[in-house]
Amino acid sequence: MRIGVLTGGGDCPGLNAVIRAVVRKGVADYGYEFIGFRDGWKGPLEGLTMELGIDQVRGILPRGGTILGSSRTNPIKVDGGVATIEKNLAELGVDALVAIGGEDTLGVATQLHEHGVKVVGCPKTIDNDLSATDYTFGFDTAVQVATDAIDRLHTTAESHHRALVIEVMGRHAGWIALHSGLAGGANVILIPEVPFDIDQVCGWVESRFESHYAPIICVAEGALPSDGDLMTREAPLDAFGHARLAGIGDWLANEIERRTGKESRAAVLGHIQRGGTPTAFDRVLATRFGLQAIDAIHDGEFGVMVALHGTDIVRVPLSEATGVLKTVPPERYEEVRTFFG
Ligand code: F6P
Repeated sequence: MRIGVLTGGGDCPGLNAVIRAVVRKGVADYGYEFIGFRDGWKGPLEGLTMELGIDQVRGILPRGGTILGSSRTNPIKVDGGVATIEKNLAELGVDALVAIGGEDTLGVATQLHEHGVKVVGCPKTIDNDLSATDYTFGFDTAVQVATDAIDRLHTTAESHHRALVIEVMGRHAGWIALHSGLAGGANVILIPEVPFDIDQVCGWVESRFESHYAPIICVAEGALPSDGDLMTREAPLDAFGHARLAGIGDWLANEIERRTGKESRAAVLGHIQRGGTPTAFDRVLATRFGLQAIDAIHDGEFGVMVALHGTDIVRVPLSEATGVLKTVPPERYEEVRTFFG
């Protein structure tokens, strides 16, 4: 068997750990050959490949990013895209694909599977917003990076008696803000799922100053005021129709300063959350996903995604994982409100 591997969408720490596990087990246990597709779905669409064997995966376990490259190419939006992929896979002698990605990449995998392409999905995203899995790899690392940043902001905020806003990633789901805000002891956490009232936020900021501590406000990039809109950058939508988000952190810092008279600053963490070496948790999860993905191929079980249920790695239909986003449930947000203000 010849297996193609690709990584699509926003990169995240742990992608290389999956690639390594897939190749190591595929070669050692099943005698498979591998071919790497470059830059997500662009690879199979344009026939962009690279050699992928034991030599290429040696030493990559702790490396962030992806040796295969990534992109947000959407072959479904390209005229004849699906047929071109089928033709390229046939010409390259690829029997099956491992697609490592989030909702967009695996959404494409779901559609290709419906056209008869043999594909197994593996869930990645720092946002942790894929359904049908308890966690995606990359999330733990992003939360750790954001928590470290909040720890640092506390000390400078205290020194200057300032309110400090930290903007973290999370377009539709506030998991990173929720977890890093809780772990870092933020005094306000704002997530896309629950529009916020700016007067209430300012009330929490003032009450924190009254107790002689400087407030930290942890906000997801997709959070929005109850009477306002999502804040976006002027840039074209990507191939999956997403706008580029930016600005909520600065907006909040300005509003807080204007309404409370307290000096405020914003720090935008951005892609720092996506880069660098994965945590041990993410390395283990990514490796276990990779091992299970190649086993699924060996068992001839296609159109599935590997997933974490409790402590077990299981296989679920791709359609189940990509149908709806996993957002923060209201009761999880209620839990953290104890620490606001
Ligand atoms: O999909 C993961 C994610 O990190 C989102 O939280 C964020 O909005 C997006 O990627 C930004 O991606 P990029 O700048 O690479 O387009």
